[in-house]
Amino acid sequence: MVYIATLHSKQVNMRTQIVNIKELINTRKENKLLRGKELADLPIIKNAYLFIEDGIISGYGKMEDLPAQFKSESSIDASGKFILPAWCDSHTHIVFAASREEEFIDKIKGLSYAEIAAKGGGILNSAKKLNEASEDDLFNSAWKRLEEVSRLGTGAIEIKSGYGLTVDGELKMLRVIKKLKERSKLSIKATFLGAHTYPLEFKEDHQGYIDCIINEMLPAIANEKLADYIDVFCENGFFTPEETETICRAGMSVGLKPKIHANQLNLSGGTEVGVKLGAVSVDHLETMDEGAINTLAQSNTIGTLLPSAAFFLRMPFQPARQLIDAGCAIALATDYNPGSSPSGNMNLVNAMSCIQMKMLPEEVINASTINGAYAMELENQLGSITVGKRANFILTKPISSLAYLPYAFGSNLIEKVMIGGEWL
Ligand code: NIG
Ligand code: FE
Repeated sequence: MVYIATLHSKQVNMRTQIVNIKELINTRKENKLLRGKELADLPIIKNAYLFIEDGIISGYGKMEDLPAQFKSESSIDASGKFILPAWCDSHTHIVFAASREEEFIDKIKGLSYAEIAAKGGGILNSAKKLNEASEDDLFNSAWKRLEEVSRLGTGAIEIKSGYGLTVDGELKMLRVIKKLKERSKLSIKATFLGAHTYPLEFKEDHQGYIDCIINEMLPAIANEKLADYIDVFCENGFFTPEETETICRAGMSVGLKPKIHANQLNLSGGTEVGVKLGAVSVDHLETMDEGAINTLAQSNTIGTLLPSAAFFLRMPFQPARQLIDAGCAIALATDYNPGSSPSGNMNLVNAMSCIQMKMLPEEVINASTINGAYAMELENQLGSITVGKRANFILTKPISSLAYLPYAFGSNLIEKVMIGGEWL
């Protein structure tokens, strides 16, 4: 088994201090899911210090209040540099067997996502390859993707199944995710997405596949404790709101909370069913009307926007401003997958959100850190610079201001990333 030593889980017993930080971003004493106007409130300490002990944030404040007695094995001068919480990417599909750039070419030539799916491409193409791949190969390729995104500043990530679509394939994917959880220093949540599409053999027998999900897949997943959440692709031509509800309720009966693919290609009713079920999040939201926006705004469900999927599929971007103005709680995520977002770069997601969705830099940082942590129920461990939380953060290169991060969208402005108290 090949995996990269720098990402091994291990106990860290040391003290680090970082001093002269130009700006320490998202310092919070208390957790709060941010909605509406609150998303623009980003607490910052200028000219700050930060202490880390045994992998945990143990103190921070202004340089003028730096306590003299802190003894550290390692001291870092961060003059001119910013520190912000590592990204919490709450929606990905990073376990897959192969990339799909041939479909990328089809799209350039004018085929739509739905037309590619109808040709046996899309999710079914990934499912065929995944069922042929070994667990070790899937683990090793997903490990490399984790390595890649951690260097881009991601410290926590949700990973979905959904390219198996058979009992064996779905269990294989979820076992790979379990192994990633055990071996990686990143915080990982697993989501069961058996209801991603109908496999060919159930094309004319939707109820047969739903029965397989409920009666065969879910009991095995519950038995091996392989998932934290249940997801359904609620979309015209995929799963109806009624089917979504049936599948989610079966998942909820074995302890899996819903996180739903909703309103990507059509007004699918996914947002409404997600809110009705008390879903942790409804994700995508490219296609929203006033009713769906108001339903989400009046709920505790998070709206997770995936702008790189809209970008890659040449779709209109999510209506972030209307969602925020209506009072919704918004998170941002990459949707890293081979079909609709072959990128796990949260820095790019943040830039796109400012440039194309008119979100403010403060709003995108909150949506990608504390609200992303809420969208994985990791808010007590991650998502802000808070004493007692895990030391997961990004140290930038010297930059002129916070807005420079999404503004200079193609540059790598990350100097180093700390995960669980250790520099990568
Ligand atoms: O989130 N929308 C559904 N699922 C994925 C795409 C999957 C694929 O094309 O492989 C998404 O965009
Ligand atoms: Fe997705």
